Amino acid sequence: MAFSITTPIYYVNSDPHLGHAYTTVAADVLARHRRRCGEEVFFLTGTDEHGGNVARAAEAAGMPPKEFCDMVSARFRALASAMESSHDFFIRTTDPEHERRVQDFVQLLKDKGELYEGTYGGLYCSSCEVFYDESELIQPGNYCRLHPNRQAEWVEERNWFFPLKTWAPKLLELYDANPEFVRPRARYNEARSLIAGGLEDVSFSRATVTWGVPLPWEPEQTIYVWVDALLNYRTALEYGLGRDVTATFWPTSLHVMAKDILRLHGIVWPAMLMAAGYDPPQGLYVHGYFTSGGQKMSKTLGNVIDPFEVIDLLGADALRFYLLREVQWGQDGDVTWEGLHRRYEGELANDLGNLVSRTTAMIGRYRDGVVPEGTNQLEPVHEQVADRLAAVDLTGALEEIWTLVRAANRFVEERQPWALAKSDDPAAAGQLDETLYTLADTVRVLGVLLHPYIPQAAATILESVGDPGAVSWDRAAHGGLAAGTATTQPAPIFPRVATDG
Ligand code: MSP
Repeated sequence: MAFSITTPIYYVNSDPHLGHAYTTVAADVLARHRRRCGEEVFFLTGTDEHGGNVARAAEAAGMPPKEFCDMVSARFRALASAMESSHDFFIRTTDPEHERRVQDFVQLLKDKGELYEGTYGGLYCSSCEVFYDESELIQPGNYCRLHPNRQAEWVEERNWFFPLKTWAPKLLELYDANPEFVRPRARYNEARSLIAGGLEDVSFSRATVTWGVPLPWEPEQTIYVWVDALLNYRTALEYGLGRDVTATFWPTSLHVMAKDILRLHGIVWPAMLMAAGYDPPQGLYVHGYFTSGGQKMSKTLGNVIDPFEVIDLLGADALRFYLLREVQWGQDGDVTWEGLHRRYEGELANDLGNLVSRTTAMIGRYRDGVVPEGTNQLEPVHEQVADRLAAVDLTGALEEIWTLVRAANRFVEERQPWALAKSDDPAAAGQLDETLYTLADTVRVLGVLLHPYIPQAAATILESVGDPGAVSWDRAAHGGLAAGTATTQPAPIFPRVATDG
């Protein structure tokens, strides 16, 4: 089985923030899960570097656009690696291998008669790089919904157009044949009703934007930045690994993104592909938007959470865990430093960290650090976790895992191993063995289950119960820990930190 998954490629006109981290972590969890199930995975992320916005940002920074892109793209790449993202390729739309293929693609559409020349007049938000209908803007004044300080401006130019309208019947067929084409369901309905409500053709070139890929047959025009950007999902497979892996990984299994770019991914992208004769993606998952303290994160409000700062203070695992635990997957949610510290202390340090350290400490103290004979007494959750992950329910899967963490902690309190160790009752030694086996095996299972979410801690956990590297899914069932395995007590996995943040 092969599984290909993508994040949006992020604009380099500003620094990476927590919202970008969110999508990357989510896609990474799914990529890691599929790999541990033995599937062949291609996980793609990267940066979107052309267009007027980026050119303006470069100008404001007093830098040539490419140099500016190199700088900001490197920050996104640094964030991905600081977050322990396991992407297979980090694409940049300024890669010459990408640019060349974008040109080939639009040439192919033109040769197939899928592009026509026309004049376009419309209200254009230069921050979104998107033309809007009046009804989509805030009135009076044509203010952009996504950039409320910016008025969309009337722009008229001669462009090359893609006849999106004519693809509506095929798009509806695609949606009707696959009710899970877009998840969650509300987003599917949203996209489908946009199609059913009537589509406008899309201008595929820009006469006014110079920072972009030139149209092959009319190099004074550049290819619309969204066409260039969407094509990354295809071109990356052709050159990213140094060989063409489209035969294995096309069509893309899952595109993950936030709701702001659903129309482009759910409508324009599949239509473009069908027009070129390529298979459309298998599915999209659309997650929600973050706010902080109930308000949109913004520099002026001072509520921006810098993902690098979180990682420096609490580690990548804490960031990953928090994002997928705090915000109900698929919905909007609020993220704050207080919330982050609360989850870190309460769930990572206390619930999980203490469970691991007291389990290994007790085995050290009562059984010389060797796992005794026994059977795991707790209810397994791995099947529920697998179901949730198959349904792309990332918060749900984590909650299932946490029921096991909590059950294990309750089990310690109920069994009171320290009392069993002191007891003169002849049955106590056997009960203590059973208790310690259950805890050690559960800690091991948690290491396996948590691997996609908190890979560093999971590795430490597995090592502490003598099962290092054993993250594959066939190790997720209870009872896999062999009696006689040597355990060690790790240094605190989630050490206390000063909370003045
Ligand atoms: N460059 C385009 C995407 C092209 S994909 C072919 C773009 N870039 S972006 O930098 O604006 O990134 C948008 C994506 O970043 C969102 O779809 C989402 O995945 C993520 N997020 C950015 N801000 C976010 C929040 N505040 N909350 C959640 N996710 C956010 O659009």
